[in-house]
This record gives sequence, C-alpha cells and structure tokens, in this order.
Amino acid sequence: MARKPAIAQTVKSLRARVAKWRAAGERIAMVPTMGALHSGHLSLVEEAHRKAKRTVVSIFVNPTQFAPSEDFARYPRTFREDVKKLAELNVDCVFAPDVSEMYPAGFSTRIEMNGPAEELESVARPHFFGGVATIVCKLLLQCGPDIAVFGEKDYQQLLVVRTMARDLDVPCTIHGAPTVREADGLAMSSRNTYLSAEHRATAPVLYRTLIDTAIHIREGSSIAWALREARSNLSISGFKVDYIEARHAETLAPLNRLGDGPIRLLVAAWLGRTRLIDNIPV
Ligand code: PAF
Repeated sequence: MARKPAIAQTVKSLRARVAKWRAAGERIAMVPTMGALHSGHLSLVEEAHRKAKRTVVSIFVNPTQFAPSEDFARYPRTFREDVKKLAELNVDCVFAPDVSEMYPAGFSTRIEMNGPAEELESVARPHFFGGVATIVCKLLLQCGPDIAVFGEKDYQQLLVVRTMARDLDVPCTIHGAPTVREADGLAMSSRNTYLSAEHRATAPVLYRTLIDTAIHIREGSSIAWALREARSNLSISGFKVDYIEARHAETLAPLNRLGDGPIRLLVAAWLGRTRLIDNIPV
C-alpha cells in the first residue's frame, strides 16, 4: 500500500528525521535526484530499499551544474507526480530544498576535481562536475546516509562522486546501480522527453553502436578501428558525436588495448538539440 513520504524542505528538518532513525539503530540510504523521475530513478530507489531500512530521495534541480546556455530553466519539474511515484515505493522522506536553502547568500565554496572529472563530459560541460561534486557533497553531509545510490547511466558522474567521497572522507558508501533501458535499448533519461518522434526512433542506434563496438573489441579489432567505425556509424545515422571512447572502467584513464584493464565504452552525441549519453562495459 502506498505511504506518502515525509517532505523535508530544510536541512534542519531532514536532520531531525534522520537523527530519530539513527537513534533507533536504523541504516539509511540516499538517492540524490533532480526529479522528473522515470523507471531508471525508481530502480535506484528499489536498490536503496534493498540496502537500508530507511530511504531518503532528494529532489533538487541544481543550478550550479548547468551552464548559462544549458537547459536549467526548461529542465522538467514534476514534483507532485514524483512524490506519488515515491509513495508507491514507500520512500520514507523526500528532501526538497529550495535554491536559497542549498546556496544561501554569501555561498562561496566549490569543489574542483581532476582524475575522473577530466575530459569526456568535461570537454563540452567544463562547469558540470564542479557543480555535481559540490551539491552531492552537501547532500551527503546534510543527510548523513550510510550508502548513496547513483545510476551507472551517468558513469563518469558515478566515478567523480565516488572519488570525491573518498578524497574528502565523507563517511558514505557510493553504490552504482545498472542502467535501466527502454525496450528498444535507449537508456532512460529525463532528457529523452526532449526528443522529437523522428529522433526518438533514431536514438536506440546509440546503444546498438556501443554493443557492436564492444563485440568488435572483444573479437580482436583494434580499439582505434572499432571507435572509428562507431563514430562513422553514428554520423551516418544522424548523430553529431561529442565523443565515443574506450576508458579504464575504474579510473577513466585512456586505454589502447584489450588487456590493459577493464574497459568501459562511453559516448555522448547530439540528436537535434538533445544530447544523449550512454556507456557499457566491454
Ligand atoms: O544525476 C543527477 O540527477 C544529478 O547530477 C545529481 C547527482 C542529483 C546532482 O545534482
């Protein structure tokens, strides 16, 4: 039976709630989101439920991870529907602060990261991981969960957050959960709603290209050749490719050969005005 989650809009009320659970010895999981929840997010919540007695989902469209030219203003905001979906899953608390709660006047701190934050997404979105690392660090310190669940769909983000938590001694395990896909293979994303019907029909080519590229590499083709083929296939299908790369799955360092370490293929490409990202292991 659905149970409406408690809504905390301030850090104080979130902490008061969490303190009671802690006093009762209960384990707490957090799922940070920007709302516009789809089945991919809900699978993160289900994973959180498996890992802890109490689940907090944050809903906050974080302005500091958007460049002025990006879609902060048009990013889908569906709070009421989101809360209904979370009630179905018996989430204990939704943390939904406003911008002034998270960034009060005089806010002056920003986390800057190297390592997994370099290249890939950072080429087109140099502001992005500083904003993500800062807001996730704040959310984890505000809530104090034992574990936080992030989707592998945003693979570079997952490694950035894991590295940030490790480097700053944030006492929380960062757990990655598998990407959830539509029946045709398109990775679920709140931004898929921007796709026109025509682009939506083309979008699954992104995942199919990753699969074909992984097969080529596993069967002995050189990584450079397989990536050239992939890029060309995506361009012919109508994508404008930002990058398609093979990287070390744990550090995102460049890799030249199968056998140099676990490989992750990562891609970002545009269909019209919509930028899609995806990744798979080889
Ligand atoms: O992946 C997202 O939705 C966001 O980048 C996150 C992790 C909630 C930080 O704002």
